[in-house]
This record gives sequence, structure tokens and C-alpha cells, in this order.
Amino acid sequence: MSSALTDLFPHPIVQAPMAGGVSVPQLAAAVSEAGGLGFLAAGYKTADGMYQEIKQLRGLTGRPFGVNLFMPHPEYAEPAAVGVYAHQLAGEAAWYETELGDPDSGRDDGYDAKLAVLLDNPVPVVSFHFGVPGRDVLDALRRAGTLTLVTATTADEARAVEQAGADAVIVQGVEAGGHQGTHRDIAENDGSGIGLLSLLAQVREAVRLPLVAAGGIMRGSQIAAVLAAGASAAQLGTAFVATHESGAHAVHKQALTNPLFTRTALTRAFSGRPARGLVNRFVREHGPYAPAAYPDLHHLTAPLRKAAARAGDAQGMALWAGQGHRMARELPAGQLVEVLAAELAAARTALSGGGTA
Ligand SMILES: Cc1cc2nc3c(=O)[nH]c(=O)nc-3n(C[C@H](O)[C@H](O)[C@H](O)COP(=O)(O)O)c2cc1C
Repeated sequence: MSSALTDLFPHPIVQAPMAGGVSVPQLAAAVSEAGGLGFLAAGYKTADGMYQEIKQLRGLTGRPFGVNLFMPHPEYAEPAAVGVYAHQLAGEAAWYETELGDPDSGRDDGYDAKLAVLLDNPVPVVSFHFGVPGRDVLDALRRAGTLTLVTATTADEARAVEQAGADAVIVQGVEAGGHQGTHRDIAENDGSGIGLLSLLAQVREAVRLPLVAAGGIMRGSQIAAVLAAGASAAQLGTAFVATHESGAHAVHKQALTNPLFTRTALTRAFSGRPARGLVNRFVREHGPYAPAAYPDLHHLTAPLRKAAARAGDAQGMALWAGQGHRMARELPAGQLVEVLAAELAAARTALSGGGTA
């Protein structure tokens, strides 16, 4: 299926935006140069930090790319619950010889300032995580020549995306690495995520917009499957964490295929919102009681995560990964796009009967 979005790049392969220093300009440039769509992640950055990365990326490639924004979280979490969690993390702070962070370090991720930069200096594509921007925002970006994508994790969320006037929906299955882009984080919903193929079919029947499928995709054959199920492109995160250009910590890259890590889980332990990562000591110990308090817990645990990373301690880091992590390939990102495209072509031939003897 062709759409204004997929007309921008030859291979239906989107490199997921990955906040926390993973999707650096070098990664996005390599993907876009190879014919996929590279993405920068503005989450947790200042508006100026985002702008500097955009300028750097523009210096590396003239091809289209995207920038991802986190929606603000205006609702305050229960301060008492955050206080109790801080108490429960006291031993971690002592172990890593650091203080806990201030949970009140901001709830909006500099959203308005980042939008202002993106309206003054338009980029080809902007995507949104954790909710739906207002129609005014989507219209203003369209007038600036930018295509807009919004993540949905249910058919109802996809309808809200369509009604707001976005150009495409990112359909994120529960297999996905990193944070679920659920529009409203409700603690009672824990454990109710929908698998990508089921979700894709539900969303395909709910909205007419082009769909970008995300969650657990590591091979071209899976891209063929989501295209056959109605998606226009696939968005891959974990597969790109392992690439040479990714800014992920070496410990994170190695952990993806380390047999020591046998499974992933959705956990609130690091940020207060469900995110999928490799199950390590921190997730096992603190996941069971971490409260629904995003971004308070993100700020609270930031020094712990930094200290663990400095020490190269995989047991204290947020090792975000999707369910397909074991299939990660340590390649240059451009080569990964080429390999995925070749696998996709082979799978399509097989699907159309051309591969049978
Ligand atoms: C390390 C990491 C960081 C992520 N950060 C973001 C982000 O900043 N914004 C966003 O929209 N999605 C983010 N995601 C989720 C991806 O957009 C995508 O849904 C997910 O990677 C797809 O599943 P996969 O990792 O199994 O390919 C992140 C994923 C990972 C693995």
C-alpha cells in the first residue's frame, strides 16, 4: 500500500525513535541513507538539544527522517506512593553511591518548546508517544509540510488518532521494547496488552489511515507478514539497538543476545510507566511494587541508572528490549536495512507462490 508517508522512503522500514541516547543522528542518517526512515528521539532532551541533533542529522543526510515527541503528563501521581518507592530504593542509592533524583523535575518534557522548534524548522515526519496531540497541533505541522504519526496500542486509541487528524497510526503491539505508548496509563490495565498481529487486524478494521506496525519485528519475513496484514511499513527498535551506529551502552547491546537474560517483561520499575526490558535484578526486585507514577520514577531513578551504566552493571540498567531480542544482529545500520529489505523481498516472493518448487 502506498501512502504519502511511504513515498518518502523506498524500503518500508522505520527505525524506531529511541530515547535515552540510542537513536543518535549517526544511526538515523545510516538508516535514511540506506532507504529506510531514520528517527531522532526528542524524549528527555531539551528543545535545544533536539534542535542540535536535527542540525547534526541534516549535515549527515539529505534524505527524509523523523523526530519523536513525548506527550506531556499533566496529572500528578500519588506523592505518598512515590515517597514509599524512594524509601524502597534507598539501598540501591547506597549500593551505587549516589543520591536518588528529584521526582518533581518536570512533567511536560519541554513539549511546547519542542513543538515551537519543529514549527520554525520543519522536518519531514513527527511522531508522538503517550497520547494524541490536539487537532491544532497536527494542522499546524501539516501546514509546515510535516507528516504526523501517533502511537496507538488499542483500536479505540487508533480511532482517537484518526479523529484528531494525524496522517498515520503507529500500531504498537505488547511485544515492543521500551515504553508502551498507551494514551492514558491506568494501573488496572497492567498485563492487558495486545499482540501485534491481533492488534493490527483490529486497527485495520477501525481506521482508514496508513498503519506502521511495531513490536518484536526482527526479520524481513515479519515485515512481509505485517504488510500482508494491512500495514504500510514496520517500525523496528530492538533490531537497531544492536547496530554499530546505535548510541546504546555496550552492555545493553551485548545483553540482547546474552543467554543470561532469558526473558523480557513490562515493568514500571525504572520510569513508573510500563516499558518492556530484559529482566534483570532491578526489575525482579522493584518491579512488583513500583507505582504508576510517570515521569516521577523516571526522574527518581535517573542517577541510579547512570551509576549502573558507569559501572557497566547490567543488573541495574534499564535494558529496554522487545520480545525478539535474541534475534538481534550486530551489523552496521545501513547493512541491516539492506538485509531486512532482501529478506522481505524473498518472503514476498514465497508468499506469492514464487518460492515453491
Ligand atoms: C531502547 C528503546 C527506546 C525506545 N524509546 C522510544 C521513544 O523515545 N519514543 C517512542 O515513540 N518509542 C520508543 N520506543 C518504542 C519503539 O518506538 C517501538 O515501539 C519498539 O521498539 C518496537 O518493538 P521492538 O523493540 O521489538 O522492535 C523505544 C524502544 C526501545 C527498544
